[in-house]
Amino acid sequence: MTSPAPAAAIGQPLDRRDGRLKVTGRARYSAEMNLRGLAHGVIVPAAIPKGRVESIDAAEIERMPGVIAVLTPFNVPKLPDLPGGVNQTRPTDKKISILQNTEVHYVGQPVALVVAETFEQAVDASARLGPRVRYATETPALDLAAAMGTAYAPKGPISRDRPVDSNEGNVEAGLAAAAQTVREAYGTPMETHCAMEPHATVAVWEGTDRLTVFDATQGIHSTRKRMAGIFGLPPENVRVLCPFLGGGFGSKGPVWSHTPLAAVAARQVGRPVKLVLGRRENFPNTGFRPETVMPVAFGATAEGKLTAVRHDVTMQTSDFDEFVEPAAVATRMLYDCPNIATSHRLVRTNYGTPNYMRAPGEASGLFPLECAMDELAYKLKLDPLELRRRNYAETDLSDKGRPWSSKNLRECYRVGAEKFGWDRRRPEPRSMRTPDGRLLVGYGMATATYPVRRSASKARARMLRDGNVVVQAGTQDLGTGTYTVMAQIAADALGVPADRVRFELGDTDFPETPVSGGSQTCASTGSAVQAACRNLRSQLVGMLFDAKEVPPSLAEYIENNYVVSGGEVRPRFDPDAKAVSLTDLLARSGQDFLEVAGEWKPGPPEQETHSMHSFGAQFCEVHVDPDLGTARVARWVGVFSAGRMLNAKTARSQLIGGIVFGIGMTLHEETVADRRLGRLVNANLSDYHVPVNADVPDLDVTFLEENDTLINPVGVKGIGEIGVTGVPGALGNAIFHATGIRVRHLPITPDKLLGAYAAAA
Ligand code: MOS
Repeated sequence: MTSPAPAAAIGQPLDRRDGRLKVTGRARYSAEMNLRGLAHGVIVPAAIPKGRVESIDAAEIERMPGVIAVLTPFNVPKLPDLPGGVNQTRPTDKKISILQNTEVHYVGQPVALVVAETFEQAVDASARLGPRVRYATETPALDLAAAMGTAYAPKGPISRDRPVDSNEGNVEAGLAAAAQTVREAYGTPMETHCAMEPHATVAVWEGTDRLTVFDATQGIHSTRKRMAGIFGLPPENVRVLCPFLGGGFGSKGPVWSHTPLAAVAARQVGRPVKLVLGRRENFPNTGFRPETVMPVAFGATAEGKLTAVRHDVTMQTSDFDEFVEPAAVATRMLYDCPNIATSHRLVRTNYGTPNYMRAPGEASGLFPLECAMDELAYKLKLDPLELRRRNYAETDLSDKGRPWSSKNLRECYRVGAEKFGWDRRRPEPRSMRTPDGRLLVGYGMATATYPVRRSASKARARMLRDGNVVVQAGTQDLGTGTYTVMAQIAADALGVPADRVRFELGDTDFPETPVSGGSQTCASTGSAVQAACRNLRSQLVGMLFDAKEVPPSLAEYIENNYVVSGGEVRPRFDPDAKAVSLTDLLARSGQDFLEVAGEWKPGPPEQETHSMHSFGAQFCEVHVDPDLGTARVARWVGVFSAGRMLNAKTARSQLIGGIVFGIGMTLHEETVADRRLGRLVNANLSDYHVPVNADVPDLDVTFLEENDTLINPVGVKGIGEIGVTGVPGALGNAIFHATGIRVRHLPITPDKLLGAYAAAA
């Protein structure tokens, strides 16, 4: 029996421990690792979208001052040829371009790499080498809409274990029986993550078989394995370091071309090489959310009971690799309906390979789902929130009707509606104005959801004689608060104040943890940290019994009969007994420190009995200028039931960050390609619009209390992504409510709203 840990530190709104280091510039990011003898690499981007490099005339460039080497497909040594494609170690690895062949698949792909003494010399040489690359061109596919005829079904499963298509009941019969139907085509554009910190790698070799990389990555251990595979080394010969990360949003999940390229170059020139991607290189080379076309067909009875839901997704992938954004997966489970059909199809295009982008699947897929529900509500003359309540899914229909490990969505709806003042909404579109009468006011809402992801993880904990505790795990802090919340988990598991615990991460010398993606870090590594600290606590308290090793039976006895808090242990049922400090217990052992490992892995039992999701409700008010077509978010209320919150402050930051991400997706973000040349025309942060402070009001975020210990002993579901989900739906619905204009293709920009006015006039 495990008693619940007293939560002294967990939940506290502690400041981020890395905050001061970051604002004072003392946190060193990968691009800032300036090693002795460092040389600088800059890639030469392909100028064509499809074809082959025929020749590269590098002679003059090699003689430029400061240039150390020019790496091309014609002079780079061949790397071990691995199964699954060009240096692709595992099927889930991205296929990358590390100058092993002359194929060109997209504009911007690395076709050469210049290494020079200074960054400026490398930039100059790269720019001059570009025109000296000769290509044989082939006809590219550059337009998803034009290439729809080539759509094909990818091999499943997608999104871990889900099938590509689903078909429950009979959708056609459900549509035929419906009192009202919605049949519309929705779509989302290419979008780019644009983390503030650029992708960057510094690679250094010791001899020819020991490699260290400082890499901006969401997964140090996965990067280690990938690099070991590429270079044919045992994983223990590769060390990956990443103490700080300036955002990732999925773009820093996989290993892309630049990371091994830096190592290829470092080996070739015999010096450490730094390779930092500029924004122009970041856009084509490090993934993006794929463009999608999403026709939907919904039907409902006059009472608002869904009779049919169809959601088909066709999206781009690259012409050399596959990525499926599981955009219709949530459609299978979000609402109760006997007839649901979904599908995912891919179209090969000559852009880079798309990738996970914050809340992949749900972020884009919930846009048509939540807007079609809204369209249906208007047709039924039913409140959109009431329509959702009438189709509440009591079990997970996409997962054999399994019960939820926890689901408090009904309460999210209720609390959200009350906080927002949903009852003040007038049902007709275009019926509300700002008090001065000038701006159109719209209210919109949508459901949010994201699955709980969990993976096996390890950690270790060490107590020192002075009572300080060091906990280590080879995980990452994306800027989300990992340093802080892991110390909070450790403190409570061990029974010491949080300020006695230092948490260390970002080094593959620390125990293995999963990639920080899929909102799984706290659920996975948090559980391992808790396990390590509980083991350490048992070992220390075991000193009371002079136990060198604490067997499970004694650990259980200790667990049931002793309480550790404030760094002291006392008998659970004898409050008057004298407390013994953990440091005294450590001293009894005669050791300078005591270090204990811990690990956690998700169990099949709960996986097979329960479905695990976070849920939420998004409510917003938008103001639209009828003359300019500009839509501005005026108010936002998000209510989430997403497991236990480890830190009220960092949790709120995660969720408001997600909502801001969703606002960008809805109103601003689009990676624009020139469909004739395959060039990304806004591959920079002045032309690629993301929300700025002026676009975002104060966001009101509420977490409902939830302690779901089926998912893991910490009760954490993960909150990195759910905040994004439902935002495009809620905001698109609010804009319709304000204007009477339904924009079905993101982003909802002024031209689309004004264009609709012009068309209606
Ligand atoms: Mo996230 S898109 O799984 O980093």
